[in-house]
Formats: sequence, C-alpha cells, structure tokens
Amino acid sequence: MFAFVQMSNAQVLTQEIPLIPAPESIHFSNGVFLITSSTVINFNDKEISSDIDFFYNYVNKMYNLQLITNLSSEKRDQQINIFLSPNLDSDVYQLTVDSNGIFINAGKNAGVFYALQTLIKLLPVTNVKELSVPYLLINDKPRFNYRGMHLDVSRHFYPVAFIKKYLDYLAMYKFNYFHWHLTDDQGWRIEIKKYPLLQKISAWRNGTRFGHLSDQPVEYDSLLYGGFYTQEEIKEIIQYATLRHITIIPEIEMPGHALAALAAYPELSCNRGPFEVGRTWGVFKDVFCPREETFIFLQNVLDEVIELFPGKYIHIGGDECPKDRWENCSSCQALIKKENLDNENGLQRYFTNRIATYLRIKNKTAIGWDEILEKGLDSDALIMSYRGYKGGTDAAINGHDVVMSPASHCYFDLYQSRISDGRIAIGGYLPIDQVYSFEPVPDILNEKQSKHIIGAQGNVWTEYIKDEARVEEMIFPRMAALSEVLWSPKKNRDFSNFSLRLTEHFKFLDFLKINYSTAFYDISSRVSPNGNNGVIIELFSNYTNGDIYYTLNAGDTSRNYILYDEKIVIDHSLGIQAFVFDGEKIKGKVFSQLFNINKATGKEINLVNQPHAEYNNDGSFSLVNGVIGNLPWIPSEWLGFSGKDLDATIDLGKLQSVSSVEINVLKDEAGKIFLPKEIKISVSDAGNVFKEVGDLGLQSINKLSPKIRIQFPETRARWIKVFAQNDNGKDWLFVNEIVVE
Ligand code: ACM
Ligand code: ZN
Repeated sequence: MFAFVQMSNAQVLTQEIPLIPAPESIHFSNGVFLITSSTVINFNDKEISSDIDFFYNYVNKMYNLQLITNLSSEKRDQQINIFLSPNLDSDVYQLTVDSNGIFINAGKNAGVFYALQTLIKLLPVTNVKELSVPYLLINDKPRFNYRGMHLDVSRHFYPVAFIKKYLDYLAMYKFNYFHWHLTDDQGWRIEIKKYPLLQKISAWRNGTRFGHLSDQPVEYDSLLYGGFYTQEEIKEIIQYATLRHITIIPEIEMPGHALAALAAYPELSCNRGPFEVGRTWGVFKDVFCPREETFIFLQNVLDEVIELFPGKYIHIGGDECPKDRWENCSSCQALIKKENLDNENGLQRYFTNRIATYLRIKNKTAIGWDEILEKGLDSDALIMSYRGYKGGTDAAINGHDVVMSPASHCYFDLYQSRISDGRIAIGGYLPIDQVYSFEPVPDILNEKQSKHIIGAQGNVWTEYIKDEARVEEMIFPRMAALSEVLWSPKKNRDFSNFSLRLTEHFKFLDFLKINYSTAFYDISSRVSPNGNNGVIIELFSNYTNGDIYYTLNAGDTSRNYILYDEKIVIDHSLGIQAFVFDGEKIKGKVFSQLFNINKATGKEINLVNQPHAEYNNDGSFSLVNGVIGNLPWIPSEWLGFSGKDLDATIDLGKLQSVSSVEINVLKDEAGKIFLPKEIKISVSDAGNVFKEVGDLGLQSINKLSPKIRIQFPETRARWIKVFAQNDNGKDWLFVNEIVVE
C-alpha cells in the first residue's frame, strides 16, 4: 500500500477530480488504474447484481466496452471488487483505487449504487476503450436522508421515456426521492380505473395560454393537449426508480388545484360546475367540496395510488386553496358548524386530517405543502415548506418532519440569469450560487428540532417549461448545486471550489448530451451611487478562469472592447456591453445595459414607505440608478409596495430648472399588481414647502403605462416629490426608475 497524500477536501476536489456532489472525504495519490475489456467486476452478494448491471450497462452504452462480471467473495487483484460489508450503514461506502485495483465496500446496495455513481464520474468523458481512474480513497455518506427532486407533469406532460431519463439524472447526483406532481388544474395524469372520466376528460385540455400569465391581451392556442400514465406504465417507472434507489412520492392535489378532476366530476365541487380543464395558469376558485361523496371519491383514488406506490409517503397537496366557494356553500357551512370548526381554514384542517388519518390506517404518511400546517393538524403529516423557511421551522418546532423547499433556493422554474435570452420563465431569479448557498436547517432550531428537517427538494413547475430540452436546461446545473447541499458535509461547502469542478463537470454533461444551461458564466452587475455624479457599475462572473471585456460604445460598430479590471464610472447616458472570454471563446451570454443619466440619477432619495422585503432590490436607490427595469419579469430593478403608496423625495443636490418627471409602473392583474390610482409631482426649492406641478389620474396612467411621463412648465427646484397611490391599499404597486429632466 502506498502512502496517500492527505489534503483538505477543498484543495483536492478541483478540475482534476470534478466530483459533484463532493464526497465526505477524499485522499488521492499519483497514478491511474485502467479499466479495459478484460476487467472483471467481482462482487460478493446477489443482492447487488442489479447495481452491478447498472454500471455494466453504463460502461457498455457509453464506451461500447463489455466488462466481465463474477459473483464471488474472494478478492481479485487488478480487478473491480465490490463487497457488501455488514459493519457499514446502508448508504455508506468506501471507494479505493490503487495499484491493486478498484475496491468498493458498502453497507447495503444503495451504498454500492452511490459508489458506482461516483466511479462513473471518475471515468473519461470521451469515447475511449481504456478507462483510466485516478488513484484515490473516498469515504462517503449522505448528509440528509431526504434528497428530492419534483416534476410537474400536469401543466406540461412528459412521456415515460423522459421520466426515466429524469430518474437517471436524479440518480447521477444521488437523489433518492422523486416527487411526481401528477394532478393539477390543467390535467390529471394518473390512470384511476374506478373513475374512467379522469382519463377521458380530466387528462385533456382544449388549448393552452400563450405567453406569460401577465401578458395582455390573453390568448390561447386551440390545440387539444394532454395525456396520462397508465397503471402499467407507472409500475414500469416505479421499478426503474427502485433500481436507482429512488422512492417515488405521488402527489394527488386536494382540496385546491382540482379543476381537472372537477371537469369530469363536477358533483364534487360546491356549485357543481360545469367546468373545463384549466387552459391557463394560476389559482382557481373551484375546489373540492368536503362532502361525504368527495371523501369517498378521494379515498377510492388513494386506494389505487397506495396499491401502486410502495413508498411510505403520499403527497396530498394542500397549497393555494381559495375559500371563496366554501364560504358560500351551505354544505360546507353546515360541516363547519357540525364539527365546531372556527372557519374555512378549520375546514381545510378537517379535510387534511381526514385524508391523513385514512392514509395512516393504510400504513402511509401524508405530505402536504406548508399551508396544511395548522394547530390540531395530524402529528404524523410531513410538511413541505415552500413559502420560505417559516412553515418548515414552525413545523419542526411542533414535532413534524419537514422537507425544506423554499422558492428562494429550490424553485428551478425561476430565471437563472439576469440576461434575457427572449424565453420566458415564471419570474423571480435563482442563480446557481444562490442554490449553492442554501442551508436547509434554520439556525434557530435546536438539535432535537433540527432532526425533523429530513432534507430538501428542488421543484420543477412546468407552466413555462414545455419540452424536455427546457426541463434539462432548468435543472442543469442547478440540481448539481442542490445535490451538494444535500449530500456533502456542510463544512466542505465552498462555492469557488464547486465552480472549478462545475466547469469541468460540464464536459461530463456534454458527454451525456444533456442540454444544460450556461447561465453560470453570465455576467451579473451591481450599480451604486458615485457621490453626486452619476453611478458606478461593477461586473461579476462566477467563472474565474476567464476575463471580462467591455465596451461603452454599445451602438458603435468599431466596438473597442477593453479588459474589465475595475469599477466603471457612468456619468452620461450610454450603453455598456460585456462578455466573459476564456482566451479562446466567449462563455455565456453577452451582457448589455443601457444607462439613462439624468438630473435624478445617483441622487439622494428618501421613501416614506418601505418596499416589501422580497421586492426591495437595492432599496430606494433602484429608482435613481440610471437603469430602466427590463420587462416583464426578471426582477432586477422593480420595487414592490404591498398595500402601500410610493412617496419618494429626491434631493437633486442644487437648485436647477426642471420640466418633466417620468416613472415606470407595472401592471399584472394575475399577480395582483395594479397601476397606481393617481400620480402627483411636487417640487420645492427649500425642502419644506412643496408646490404641486403635475397630477395624473388612473385613465391617463393606464393609457401611458408602463412609462408615465409628466410634463410641466419649467420651474426651478432642488427637491422633487413623486407620489403614486396604491390602487386599493392592499395589493401590489410596482415602480421603477424615476427620470427627472
Ligand atoms: C406551490 O408552489 N404552490 C407549492
Ligand atoms: Zn362546499
């Protein structure tokens, strides 16, 4: 045995050994072992033959190399030896590569499988016949027991072959739960033999919303869209997942997100329809009515689901259930009275508890989205926390098991670059470094409470993800970052080291022909005030092996790009363009940004009301940073006020002549974002007494939006007050750049 060189994880795991997720510990030495056509895979237990087959098939498929397999407990020198060891825990493995060959020891077959997934990532990423594997010693085990990925197949449907591919992707990163979102308003995707109309009616919609939910006018295509998985197909998929040590959690949404089911069985609603399967996105008011016949229906559905899925968890949704219909339903109101419930929220708790109890009797555990967390909730139910961490934190304190899935770090339907490529996503911004920074266990939990956080999950809602290539692009490489959060020891997490491995890991994804996003390379920027004279822009890229080049003459055909090495001062209106260059080619997308430098840019601005914390961006400075917010939904610039008015005062620094103010406003009725009811402009020369110079009502605002320009007779002023009144005092007002001329 040679001496291993011991180094810290961060030093070792670089480009040479681009393992993702990083193992618990790795020691390496110089030298490689060669796997060739005469290499034997020697294993000691029939139990693991399917794991051996998995590796055999991978090597066969990717390298056209047929290894020899052999069942024996005797170690064979210069070969691959894979042994189950009764003294190791089930997911634990040790992988040794040295001059004697490859040795894997694992507790159970899952451990073997994870070891083989690691070994696969050590193989060459070109089609060669001799596979060199670096000498090393890895000791590894997962940090969390629940490592999940979700896929919504209701909004867009994905065939069996793709679900299998998706499971392969999960397996690649050692995920062990697949949350299959099978039902929603826009389609029911699981065959239920007792209710044939779920197949005939609920699985199909008569057209689909074009564009983004916030687009006006609202338009639909007229194509029949849909499909479902037969029970035979589901069994085939479950078996496929089992071979990859993945448990599938089926989700049957209730009481909300039920429109597709109600289209077929309107008698299960409060007002009995008629309904059509949803053609657009969002939250619908028609939900299951908690009458006996509804419970009988859902229990019958669940009976078939339970029969199919061997795992312990069944997801019963519970999110986004409007109470409008229940409030106006005599049967619902009678039930509230009879069961002595406080209100409609109590009714949802009653609903959840009945179903959770039903599942418990059948030896299953209910999972629900965090809305189901209510005092008096069945203590078995597992909470999936998506509206931030709070639901999960409260649930853990109250003794529920929790899977963390906050949208801020785990929603892979959000944008991953601030640079638009013209294609829409649902909104928001979740770059890979933010996924990587995710910590599933909130600090405020004590040790006992922390044990209730059994893991986390990435979610893939597919309203705006219409095909397989786009799914790949949304999950790769963000899923790689999440896998490291879930698998690797917290103390080893280091984004710059991960970045080095990631760029090398892209070659592995290329080898597998996976359509991953290159947003990792994209430039992001920060704009800050420059005293009282314009603004400063800083450019960043996660990629440290390249340089940023930029030009300030974006419109100029001569385009003289210069190396970016320090902050750039912008003191007049211009366009900046920049890219990352690795010495050979441009990486990622070209960044471009227009600046409108006007009398208000970079000046002191005070707000009476603060924006909502989630839509605060750079605070009040966002309104005078010279950057006009891009429409509609990559939220880099917009300030969102919840129920409040914009009441801003800008100090121009000195008395000067002004004659117009422009302000940008957003309208998205689906997102409850409304135009201001009124905009008023006032000016002052001393900062205490203001004189109103402009006033626009809703009608004019509506006509001019999103760019509202208010002209007034030239006047001298130092302070400008911009007041935009929230439409109804409870919904959203979104504003951006104030331009003063
Ligand atoms: C959810 O995002 N409505 C769970
Ligand atoms: Zn009702």
